[in-house]
Amino acid sequence: MTALRTNQDLDHHRLREVFGIFPSGVVAVAAVVDGVPVGLAASSFTSVSLDPPLVSFSIANASKTWPDLRRAVHLGVTILADHHSAVARQLAGAPAGRFDGLSLTASPLGAVTLDDGLAHFETTIYREVLAGDHTIVLLRLLAARHAGLGDPSPLVFHRSRFGRLQPD
Ligand SMILES: Cc1cc2nc3c(=O)[nH]c(=O)nc-3n(C[C@H](O)[C@H](O)[C@H](O)COP(=O)(O)O)c2cc1C
Repeated sequence: MTALRTNQDLDHHRLREVFGIFPSGVVAVAAVVDGVPVGLAASSFTSVSLDPPLVSFSIANASKTWPDLRRAVHLGVTILADHHSAVARQLAGAPAGRFDGLSLTASPLGAVTLDDGLAHFETTIYREVLAGDHTIVLLRLLAARHAGLGDPSPLVFHRSRFGRLQPD
C-alpha cells in the first residue's frame, strides 16, 4: 500500500476521492418552510446517541438551503431505498424542482418525509457544530418509524455512484 506523503495528498480533489471509498447511505432532510417543502439529499447522516436519541449530518457552509431549512420547527429525515437514485439526484438538484412528483407527508409541525422511504425520523435541531467548511448538525429524534425490517435494501453511495447492497 502506498503511504500518504505530502500535503498534496490532501488537496480537495484527492480528498473527495479518498473520502468516497467509505460507503454510506443517503437520506433526505426536509421540512415545510414558508408553506413549501425545502430540503436536500445528504450522505453524511449517521446515528449518534440513544440517550438522548440523536443523529447527525454535515451540511456545507455554502448551502443555500440550510439557512431556510434550519428555521423549521421540526425536520424530517428519510432513509432512501435502493430505487431512489434518481430521487437522490433530484433532491440535490435545482431547489425549485426538488420535490416534484414525490409522494410526501408533512407532520403537523412541518417535518417532511418521503412516503416510500425505508425509515422516517421526526427531529428537531439539538446543536450545530462548526467544523471547517461544513457544520455538523445534531438532530434530536422525536419519533422514528421504519417500513419493516424484512429486507430494507438501502440506497448506497460509494465513490460518487449509487448502488445497492449485495447479499452474502
Ligand atoms: C448522494 C448525495 C449526498 C449528498 N450529501 C451531502 C451532505 O452530506 N452534505 C451536504 O452539505 N450536501 C450534500 N449533498 C449535496 C446537497 O444535496 C445539495 O446538492 C447541496 O447542499 C447544494 O444545494 P443547496 O445550496 O440548496 O444546499 C449531497 C448530494 C448527493 C447527490
